[in-house]
Amino acid sequence: MTRKIAVLAGDGIGPEVVGEAIKVLNRIDTSFEFEHALVGGAAYDDGGHPLPQSTLDLCRKADAVLLGAVGGPKYDKIQPPELRPEVGALLPLRSELNLYANVRPAKTIDALSSSSPLREGRGKMDLVVMRELTGGIYFAKPRERRDGGDTAVDTCIYRRHEVVRIAERAFEIARQRRNEIVSVDKANVLETSRLWREVVTEMAGQNQDVKVSHMLVDNCAMQLVRDPSQFDVILTENMFGDILSDEASMITGSLGLLPSASLSDPKDGQVFGLYEPVHGSAPDIAGQGKANPIATILSTAMMLRYSFKDNEGALRIERAVEQVLNEGLRTADIMSDGCRPASTIEMGDAIADCL
Ligand code: IPM
Ligand code: MG
Repeated sequence: MTRKIAVLAGDGIGPEVVGEAIKVLNRIDTSFEFEHALVGGAAYDDGGHPLPQSTLDLCRKADAVLLGAVGGPKYDKIQPPELRPEVGALLPLRSELNLYANVRPAKTIDALSSSSPLREGRGKMDLVVMRELTGGIYFAKPRERRDGGDTAVDTCIYRRHEVVRIAERAFEIARQRRNEIVSVDKANVLETSRLWREVVTEMAGQNQDVKVSHMLVDNCAMQLVRDPSQFDVILTENMFGDILSDEASMITGSLGLLPSASLSDPKDGQVFGLYEPVHGSAPDIAGQGKANPIATILSTAMMLRYSFKDNEGALRIERAVEQVLNEGLRTADIMSDGCRPASTIEMGDAIADCL
């Protein structure tokens, strides 16, 4: 099995956190091949486009992609908006590489439970948001201004096959967890949601080992705060998943620790994917050794699990992170009384040494 990893470090703290993730991967196995390419603002500065063709080509030749973060205030005003790092790099990476299944686990970590805004008595949260990532209102045309700029149009389209494939991935993930899916939509209003619910209901009939229920998105937002422990897998469309995954990640109290995977079609039990931390490029602390590399390191654990069929390696990384946190090592973002401060590199070293 080849293990080529395209590394897109990107902007802000991206290069720092990606550096630590590579350190950890090298400790797991020395046979990974890393090839670096520019993305985001860094690529825009270099050649005028946030996603150069050469970067896309490198990703296509790789078995997995490791992404840091893109964007920053310097790039927020670029015109046209299609050339801004988020829209001009992230969205086309997702669609060009067919990364339709976005897996965003959100789990409270015992050592950090005091930083959750919900704190005591609400039960533990351990859920995965399965977000459809290449369809819906993010991608459908037309998207335009009319009437001399006074009318704006965004279109939401879903096709049956797009719902089927993300739901299939959700059933697979649910089977590795607690066998429960809550499918989230807005079927009381939206036609795309009625199609979504119809398809998921049919599939639930064919997959009766998994318990499937349906929830409207506004209710889901409320239920997440009321009792997040009720959820196992949340299956939902692109924009609802964007919003709910931010909400879920905040409930863990440790946004800086959450990994994510964006996956394509599985082939022979292996799947091409892009792995990145949920947090952004944090330009305010870039280059100062303050960034928390844990989310990116945990993203490499997801990479081992999904793209390289190495569940054992993934567990080793996850246990190493847990151990280092239990021992009281903390980067600035998760610092609390009685803990020992660590820089980005010190945190990466400590986790690598645990392996
Ligand atoms: C995310 C981000 C992106 C999204 C933005 C930056 C385009 O919020 O990955 O959740 O909305 O998908
Ligand atoms: Mg988001």
